[in-house]
Order: sequence, then structure tokens, then C-alpha cells
Amino acid sequence: MNRRLFLATIASLPLLGEGNGFAISNPRFADNPFTLGIASGDPDANSVVLWTKLAIRPLDLDGGMPPADIDVTWEIATSDSFTTILKSGKSRASRLLGHSVHVEVDGLTPDTWYWYRFQAGDATSPVGRTRTMPLASAQKTAFNFAFASCQHLEYGYFTAYKQLAADDNDIVFHLGDYIYEYAASEKRQRRHTNAKLFNVTDYRIRYNQYRMDPLLQAAHARCPWFVTWDDHEVENNYAADISERKGMETPEFLIHRANAYQVYYEMMPLRRTSIPRGPDMLLYRKAKFGNLAELLVLDTRQYRADQPNGDGLAPINDATLSPKQTMLGVTQREWLEQGLKASTGTWNVLAQQVMMGMVDRSMGPEQKYSMDQWPGYAGERMALAKFIQENRIRNTVVLTGDIHTNWVNDLRVDDRKPELPVVATEFVGTSISSGGDGVDKPKILDDLLKENPFVKFHNQQRGYVRCRVTPTQWTSDFMVVDQITKEGGVVTKRASFVVDAGTPGARSV
Ligand SMILES: [Fe+2]
Repeated sequence: MNRRLFLATIASLPLLGEGNGFAISNPRFADNPFTLGIASGDPDANSVVLWTKLAIRPLDLDGGMPPADIDVTWEIATSDSFTTILKSGKSRASRLLGHSVHVEVDGLTPDTWYWYRFQAGDATSPVGRTRTMPLASAQKTAFNFAFASCQHLEYGYFTAYKQLAADDNDIVFHLGDYIYEYAASEKRQRRHTNAKLFNVTDYRIRYNQYRMDPLLQAAHARCPWFVTWDDHEVENNYAADISERKGMETPEFLIHRANAYQVYYEMMPLRRTSIPRGPDMLLYRKAKFGNLAELLVLDTRQYRADQPNGDGLAPINDATLSPKQTMLGVTQREWLEQGLKASTGTWNVLAQQVMMGMVDRSMGPEQKYSMDQWPGYAGERMALAKFIQENRIRNTVVLTGDIHTNWVNDLRVDDRKPELPVVATEFVGTSISSGGDGVDKPKILDDLLKENPFVKFHNQQRGYVRCRVTPTQWTSDFMVVDQITKEGGVVTKRASFVVDAGTPGARSV
């Protein structure tokens, strides 16, 4: 009943994306309005989303922008010199969407690189590079991408993005924790400028602060991204409409969630299909890189059941095995299964948030698992692995973020049973900055690996993962940064793992 009342209230609010009718078509800005850079995302074979957001003073209320919509023009060209402009058009930076601009440019050529920029009044944006995907039928021989997650700004610098932006990636996945919602803390390298997030304005200022980072801007400018969220884009360890705060009622939390989702949409290069409706927003979606890879981007936060067993470390018990204990929700789960069955890709990639490997985190005879991760939803987790096995889904690779550490896991229907066949491979990428400098090998590493023989690699430095995919082989490079608490850290390749097509499971190279 509470939820219905809440939805009735939301329905009376103005629709997102509808302007107030008053637009400035030829503004004159006192300062550069393109302080947040540009981005592109969600390409398919013929179209891509171009993004920017106007903010003269990004850390001020409304970004220092006037309370009106502003006309913005965009251009897309075959080179960064913009001598041949292929397409251009007008869009609008809507005040109701924080003066963000989302343009879905269509009619493009498959498998092609483009350059784009925006203009508002007499101001011109930085130039971004983007690309379309190959046609689904294209016989591609190589697909290069990176995945990243967890960029708590206060812990240090986004040095990993400097290398990521220098790499030759076709796309980048961001797997969540793009921002953190916490208030400023003492004695860290950088500092949040506002209090714990709740209102739309709070979220806008926080995202603006993160997006002012030049290394993050450079990484967005380099190629299109597919983004998905984890918990901190709203609040730590939330589950669907349940806050982790005791006594927080569902309607109040859904207002919080609606604010957070709205600003996530504003800040990301997402398609119209992701425009939020009140507290709901469609973020799971799929893409193809020719015949080489089917890409399934998941949302493991919006539809999940509450974490069982008090959301800590606990054994896999009846609560985790209950059919009600869903991570994906029924609709997304069916969409995923249909997508995997219909896939024409040599590789099937699940780009998602929380670790699927059933890692026993309690050293010694006791077995305990993270209830916020897939083991807290062990029934659904094992059913999904069984689905992959029984339907002979080819070459499934799971990409994960969330836990600020690197892992390589061979996945079985039940990871506690090493006698079972491996059905998929999981690469968990560490954080960009969350957690500080980190360490290469934690003290418990030997015990951890002994108790979890399906874990092939674990490391606790910062960085990202770079992947090269061919018809016969998948290679993941674990790129790590020696320090992020000071600027100028050095990025090196810490380890590389290979999966051979037709043989699930990873081997070190
Ligand atoms: Fe995180």
C-alpha cells in the first residue's frame, strides 16, 4: 500500500525530459560551460549516445547555470579535425535534467570510429572519440575492452584511467560505484564537498565533483562506455526498495532511490530506454560485438531480495537457497536466460557487479560467505550456472567489480565441489581508487587459496582489467597501480590469464 501511494505521488510530478518551454538558444557564458567533459555510450551497429552536461560552476547549486533550458548543437565527424562533418543537429540541455544532453545519433556505419563535439552559444566542448559496433553477422577477429569499478574519490587519484585511456579499447565497462554517497571524511587525499547524499541537488554536485577529474574525463573521451551501477550510486548495500538504515520506511527510501537514479541517468551516456520513471530505471541491456561477443549488462541491485542472514558473513543455508532469494528478479532472470539461449556470440559476457564465485571467507573449518554477493543468493546462483551448463551456453565469462580486489575464479554449479566440471570463468576487477593503495598479497592469501581451490588469482592493489578477445582465446590483463594516494603512480601488468574457447576456466600465462 505504501508503495502504491508513493507511486501515485510520483505520477503527479512533471515528466523527466520535458522542458519548461523556456529555452535560451544563443547563450553567452561568463565561463566555460563544458567543465564536465563529454562522453559516449551504449553503441549498436548504427547508433551511439553522445553525452555532455553544462555547468559553469560544477560545485554550486544548479552548476551555476540559469534556470532555463539551453539549446546545444552537436557534430559528428570522420576525424578529430572535423573537416568532414557527417552529421550534426540540435539538442537541448534541459534544466529538469540538470542541463545534461543525451543525443542518440543514428544512421551511422557499423564498426566505424567517429569524433564528436558540442557547441552552446560561443563555447565549444572538448572532442570525444566513439565507435559503432560491428554488425551481428560480422566475422570479427579481435575485440579489445577494459572494465573498471569503485572510484571513491577521497581515497586518492584515478591514475588507472591514465593507462586505460592510452590503451586501444573498443569499449569500456564501468561496473558500478562510480561515486560514493558518503559525507566528507577527515585525513584522506581528496575530499567530498557536500554532506551524505539524499536530494537530487546533492547527487548532482557529487557526480560533478567526480566528473571534474581530468583522468576520468580523458577515459570517457577515448571510446564509448557501457555503464551499470552497484550500491553506492544510491546507498551502501541497499536491496531493491530496502535501505540498510534501520527504521527507514520504504516510501522514504524510494524517494531517495528516485533522486539517485535520476542523477545517474543525467550523468551517464544512456539511451532513452533508461530514462527513470520515479524510483524505477531500466539498466539491464545487451549488445553484440559482431559474432565474437554477446554482451549482457546486468543490474543486481534494483530487483534483489534483501540480503539474508543479517547481510554479513554467513554459511550457505536455507535462507540463501530459498526460491524467493533472487538477485536478478524474475523478469531480468528470464531476459538473461533468453538472451543466453539466443546468443550468436562465440563469447558470452555477463558484465555485472557482485562476485559469483562462492568464496569461503572464513579461514579454518568454518565456511562463511558474503551475503551481499551471489552466495547470499546461492539457490539462484547455482541455478544460473546449471542453466549455462545444461543449455551448453558457449564460453561464458563473468565480469565483476564491487570488492576492490582482483580475483580469477573457475565457476562450477557448486563451487564447494571441485569434482564438478567448470562451466564458466569469472574475472573480478579491483577498484580504481576505493580502499587506498592496497597490497599485492594479503596475509591470508595462502589459506584463502587453499580453502578455495577454484580461485586462481587474488590481489589487493588498485587498477583495472584489460581484455583481448579473439575467436579462439580470451586474455585478461590485471593492470595495477603502485600507489594512488599520491599523483603520478605507475601502472603495470601484474598478471595475465587466458581462457581457451571451448574450455571453461582460466590459466595463468
Ligand atoms: Fe566499491
